[in-house]
Amino acid sequence: MSEVIVQPDRLRELVVDKLKSVDLSEEQASTVADVLVHADLRGVHSHGVLRTEHYVKRISEGGINPNNVTNVENKGKSGALFNGDDGMGHAITKEAMDHSITLSKENGIGIVGVMNSSHCGALSYFAEQAAKEDTVSMVVTQTDSAVVPFGGADSYFGTNPIAFGFPAKNKRPIILDMATSNVAFGKVLHAREKEQTIPDNWGVDKDGNPVTDPSVVKSLLPVGGPKGYGLALVVDVLSGILTGSSFGPSIVSMYGDYEEYRKLSHTIITIDAGLFIDKDEFLTNVDKMIDELHNVSPADGFDQVLVPGEPEQLKQEDYEKNGIPISQSVYDYLIS
Ligand SMILES: NC(=O)c1ccc[n+]([C@@H]2O[C@H](COP(=O)([O-])OP(=O)(O)OC[C@H]3O[C@@H](n4cnc5c(N)ncnc54)[C@H](O)[C@@H]3O)[C@@H](O)[C@H]2O)c1
Repeated sequence: MSEVIVQPDRLRELVVDKLKSVDLSEEQASTVADVLVHADLRGVHSHGVLRTEHYVKRISEGGINPNNVTNVENKGKSGALFNGDDGMGHAITKEAMDHSITLSKENGIGIVGVMNSSHCGALSYFAEQAAKEDTVSMVVTQTDSAVVPFGGADSYFGTNPIAFGFPAKNKRPIILDMATSNVAFGKVLHAREKEQTIPDNWGVDKDGNPVTDPSVVKSLLPVGGPKGYGLALVVDVLSGILTGSSFGPSIVSMYGDYEEYRKLSHTIITIDAGLFIDKDEFLTNVDKMIDELHNVSPADGFDQVLVPGEPEQLKQEDYEKNGIPISQSVYDYLIS
């Protein structure tokens, strides 16, 4: 597949233009573009600008409200519930994270539930947003059903990702951002296209049996068996059930029902880094942990132990300098 190298600012401009063409405001379009380019900069192209076409289609067909007005209801001193009015998930989640950061600065901890949202992209963006404010964070989002529960033959939960961010003093923050499925469905589709076999821990057939032939994969497997399944459940309870939204297989699918609002929910928890100890001590110890992990002797085949988020941060340094490789077909869509 041929690629084009594009500078991040140019990519943002192209995405903003596309989104404005379906009546999204300049401000919202800029936020969405920022989240998408953030993913591409980190090499997480599955959640980058290639999604623009999907959002444009969903807005055009009525499944996302480009003129949403977010409503915030305070829930106690440290909590709030955001009603996103079915707008773009990226912009709603960014605003919700800002609110949660403020709550944790004022009260030590903040929790913001988000309802009536839509796909919000790579969660690392929001964990990084908090880390820039010396705030510890956890972000979860439910997604539509695609993964079998451990021991099940049919899918129930989605790929339900979870992200944590930990600010550091003089180093980049630690950002763990992971789906709770072993791989995204896109990887199965890619293998299908290339007529390659897949590892037997990626997906199952219609009877729930693990398969290596990508063409018969019906559902994905959770990462780490019952542990990933358990985490997917945690994500859906914390986002779906906690906010009074749909959950499990009742969630409107991403690639279908384009005229329907998805009514997705996300939950954000933020903690001031100085909640229990002096903030500077916290930040210094995160730096120390990173150093100590880097100094663990590498196993055969590894150059160095990295901390979560670091592979993507290294890629970001490279792409910021040299431009981002974008597939020709995605670029052609963006300039069309
Ligand atoms: N919004 C949604 O609906 C949705 C749904 C699913 C996934 N996603 C996003 O998809 C993206 C990709 O998720 P994924 O599960 O495929 O990520 P992944 O498997 O590529 O990485 C998972 C985590 O492992 C860390 N990691 C990888 N290699 C490492 C190494 N050598 N040393 C230390 N840490 C390492 C990464 O930094 C990352 O934090 C995420 O941004 C996620 O938020 C979003």
